[in-house]
Amino acid sequence: MSRTTLEIEEQLTCVVRAPRPRDLPRMAELAEQLGYQCKHEDIRARLREMQSSREHAVFIAELSKEQVVGWIGVYVFRSVELDPFAEISGVVVDQKNRSCGVGTLLLGAAEHWARSIGSKVLCVRSNIIRARAHHFYVKNGFELIKTQRVFRKSLSK
Ligand SMILES: CC(C)(COP(=O)(O)OP(=O)(O)OC[C@H]1O[C@@H](n2cnc3c(N)ncnc32)[C@H](O)[C@@H]1OP(=O)(O)O)[C@@H](O)C(=O)NCCC(=O)NCCS
Repeated sequence: MSRTTLEIEEQLTCVVRAPRPRDLPRMAELAEQLGYQCKHEDIRARLREMQSSREHAVFIAELSKEQVVGWIGVYVFRSVELDPFAEISGVVVDQKNRSCGVGTLLLGAAEHWARSIGSKVLCVRSNIIRARAHHFYVKNGFELIKTQRVFRKSLSK
């Protein structure tokens, strides 16, 4: 079992758990720090679908004062050419609470989930501009395996 709590300072503990409805507004604020504007109603709908699937998991990090300071999403990536594997879909820690180990705690929860579903690896794709996050992954045992370009076609017209 991975660590699910972290002692940040005396009487300040961080706990990892599944999200609850009251966490949604904070999750939306944190998504904004990640660079994505979203309403908490949208997050509610997305979480509902993810929570009904065994191939998705979301964890939040909460300080002992019931303050949500981070979240992580992880899912099973499936393709024709590879065995399924776990991939982190997003992770963020409040900018006021970084470098205290909260991100590492969240990674541990994602890794534990990945192992529990039998995944042999845990992957993450990270934008080239997120240099500090890249250090964070390397520090936590990830290795850079390739650099990609992402293409998108709008289907709204
Ligand atoms: C990447 C992130 C989740 C790490 O969370 P964290 O709680 O700061 O992580 P930890 O405290 O466990 O580890 C911190 C280490 O990660 C790295 N790091 C990455 N981003 C950092 C940041 N913005 N501030 C400080 N350290 C950062 C540093 O190497 C740091 O090591 P140090 O404390 O010895 O300097 C967090 O910085 C964040 O939310 N960044 C913005 C969103 C983002 O880039 N997400 C990743 C998307 S792929």
